[in-house]
Amino acid sequence: MKSLFARKPIAALVPEGEEGAGLKRQLGTIDLVALSIGAVIGAGIFSSIGTAAAGQIAADGVTVVRYGAGPALVVSFLLLGGVCALAALCYAELTAMIPQAGSAYAYTYATLGELVAWIIGWDLILEYAVGNVAVAIGWSGYFVSLLSGFGVDLPGWLVHGYREVLLAAPDSPIKHLMTDAPQIGGIPVLLNIPAFVAVAAITWLLVIGVKESNRVNRVMVAVKLIVLAVFIIIGVQHIDTANYTPYAPNGFRGIHQGAAIVFFAYIGFDAISTAAEETKDPQRTMPRGILLGLLICTIIYVAVGAVATGLVPYKQLLANDPLAAAFNQAGLQRFSWFISLGAVVATSAVLLVFQYGQARILMAMARDGLLPKWAAKIHPKFRTPHITTLVMGGFVALWALIGDPGETYDLTNIGTLFAFTLVAVGVLVLRKTEPNRPRPFRIIFVWPVAVLTALACIFVMLGLPAQAWTRFGIWLLIGLAIYFAYGFKRSVLRANS
Ligand code: ALA
Repeated sequence: MKSLFARKPIAALVPEGEEGAGLKRQLGTIDLVALSIGAVIGAGIFSSIGTAAAGQIAADGVTVVRYGAGPALVVSFLLLGGVCALAALCYAELTAMIPQAGSAYAYTYATLGELVAWIIGWDLILEYAVGNVAVAIGWSGYFVSLLSGFGVDLPGWLVHGYREVLLAAPDSPIKHLMTDAPQIGGIPVLLNIPAFVAVAAITWLLVIGVKESNRVNRVMVAVKLIVLAVFIIIGVQHIDTANYTPYAPNGFRGIHQGAAIVFFAYIGFDAISTAAEETKDPQRTMPRGILLGLLICTIIYVAVGAVATGLVPYKQLLANDPLAAAFNQAGLQRFSWFISLGAVVATSAVLLVFQYGQARILMAMARDGLLPKWAAKIHPKFRTPHITTLVMGGFVALWALIGDPGETYDLTNIGTLFAFTLVAVGVLVLRKTEPNRPRPFRIIFVWPVAVLTALACIFVMLGLPAQAWTRFGIWLLIGLAIYFAYGFKRSVLRANS
């Protein structure tokens, strides 16, 4: 029983900086803020914002899956900014103390022990890999809208996955594909080919090296900031204040449930902690990068939310490309292709950072013996964890081929909020167990901050549909089964002790 909660000493977690054998240390503060904005601004603001504002009806046409926030989406964004700032403080304290590639997984190993660390590592697959399924589908939505702006229309059955069509409400414009798509053995062939191809391309980029990827990321970050600035500056001049009434059509329930889905827009500020082993002076650079990135994104979201819900009645935001659709309906068609282009670039950047982070978390778990050792291999020439990169690339690409965005948003959000909760608990545990260890970044009023972080995350989780909770429970049970069948016996920590 005790060995289940064996904690990895922090000294063993901090790499000795052996430049030759490990990953290259080459990232500075600006790189981290770029990685952070690269990870954060994506499908959440460009795509999930539609469902968050308008709400969602089930395939039976009657059941309410979630209530929308309406124009009060801005309130959801502000609340979430507060929740994420709290969580960011917890991440910053731990990242600065334990600058290692495994992120929350590594922190938990040092604080709450092996079993909880495994659970977190397994849970982070929801944040990174499953999250990227939703991002790839968002990418595809805007890519298709961009192409159609240039007069190229791909057949519906090649751009919508099976589950997306299956779960769509009866009045949805894609529902007819259920009967109109080609069939094999009575099953409609519904494949999101653009989403699949996007993930495959990103995976290749990551295998050939972080330096190249980082440079590409910077360009993509610049483009997404320009596009959102254009959306805000042009959009603000066409706001019809009548659209702000009613401001909160579903009261606080709508604000809460809207926040629970659009939380997706904030995910990623923590992802940069997985680059700790490749960061110069991580103790100082990491907390700075995380907090600065989060602040910039919050300001942008509030502005975009206010403009989007002011341009059109909030219900019209329910589309695969809500920001472009808002421009179209507000008579700004000549700019909407530009928004679609920006969304394609933004979501590409998110795909990049998340595939990058996922590969490194799995590598850290394999190094600890909780996953097979071969998964931790670093490519002799490119110096990247090519095996985990390729395996996760395949997993995400195949799921994106047939997946539904709404259900993947929910699963990602619940998994991420759970990880944030455990990180907050970990901060407190470490203050007790290792009070004298140097903390280059120290939270003041740590008890209220960490307790509030955990409670706030649980509160946001409660805004998700019941189905998300059930699926999350099943995911955790599968993870536990794998741990007891494999990691429990092969753990390096246990073998050493
Ligand atoms: N925050 C990231 C996005 O919105 C996951 O795409």
